[in-house]
Amino acid sequence: MTEYLAPPPGPEPPSALPRDPEHPLFAGRTAVVTGGARGIGAGIVRALAYHGARVVLCDTEGDAARATAETALGDGSPEVTVVAGDIRARTTVDALVAAAGEPDFLVNNVGDFRPSGPFLTSEERDWQDMYELNLLHILRVTRAFLPAMVERGHGGIVNLSSVEGLRGIPGSAVYGAFKAAAIAFTASLAAEVGQYGIRVNGIAPDLTDTPQTPMWASTAAKYGDHVGKWVPVGRFGHPADHGDAAVFLLSEQSRFMTGTTLNLDGGTMAAPGWLRRDEHRYTNMPRGLR
Ligand SMILES: NC(=O)c1ccc[n+]([C@@H]2O[C@H](COP(=O)([O-])OP(=O)(O)OC[C@H]3O[C@@H](n4cnc5c(N)ncnc54)[C@H](O)[C@@H]3O)[C@@H](O)[C@H]2O)c1
Repeated sequence: MTEYLAPPPGPEPPSALPRDPEHPLFAGRTAVVTGGARGIGAGIVRALAYHGARVVLCDTEGDAARATAETALGDGSPEVTVVAGDIRARTTVDALVAAAGEPDFLVNNVGDFRPSGPFLTSEERDWQDMYELNLLHILRVTRAFLPAMVERGHGGIVNLSSVEGLRGIPGSAVYGAFKAAAIAFTASLAAEVGQYGIRVNGIAPDLTDTPQTPMWASTAAKYGDHVGKWVPVGRFGHPADHGDAAVFLLSEQSRFMTGTTLNLDGGTMAAPGWLRRDEHRYTNMPRGLR
């Protein structure tokens, strides 16, 4: 039986950034996070909560969402509201708007590469499913909240995409295409709405340990030493890494930045195709060619 790697001992703090509990960074701010129950979305919910934001999170998994909401209240949020529902449904978007009112921030996080498979045997229905899961709701939810942000003259939006929108991903070509679209949408919208005091940025993750990609639990223990050769920073990502990136992108720390998608990948896009062999040597060849 295969033995898998154990994740690093937790719990991971919700944020690595300092805070002043008397004057939290996001006091008086409201953030909407889609897919906030688990994984990267939950990491973002917790980091925003830790820095004092009121959070409205939407997720298909109501129980998991309520558990994350409890944790986020403990982290420091004054109020966390759960909207249980599928973000692909218009009715869920309506419920989210009703619950959140006029939020300061929106994090469009829902997305999935599954099911994957060769384009050669894919069908139009598969493409439509990928579109609805990785792009359509970003457009729809953003369109729903944008007018109030324009009216108030301020707002911050963060779109989750993937490094797979920046490079090819054989076996998930349509997923990669819609992630690339999310990155392009982020840039174009940023240029349109900067004049209204709204900034739109993105996060392109890779190799982050979540229910969708349980990196530690799906890596055979006998390959434990490969992690450092595979990921330049020497570990898989944690949802809290994305939480702090969202804090940066939604705060005044990034006030002159818009239209940018940050690679949050532990360095895999720094030298894609290159792997470390030992301390000083690298290879871009499949093992065994020489
Ligand atoms: N984990 C990674 O390494 C990685 C890599 C590249 C891109 N991403 C992107 O980051 C985002 C988050 O990924 P993750 O790994 O945390 O995902 P995940 O599947 O682990 O978690 C997604 C969360 O969204 C919820 N959700 C899924 N579909 C939903 C829907 N239709 N409506 C409402 N809620 C829904 C799930 O219940 C879950 O709470 C996605 O857009 C994903 O494509 C992640």
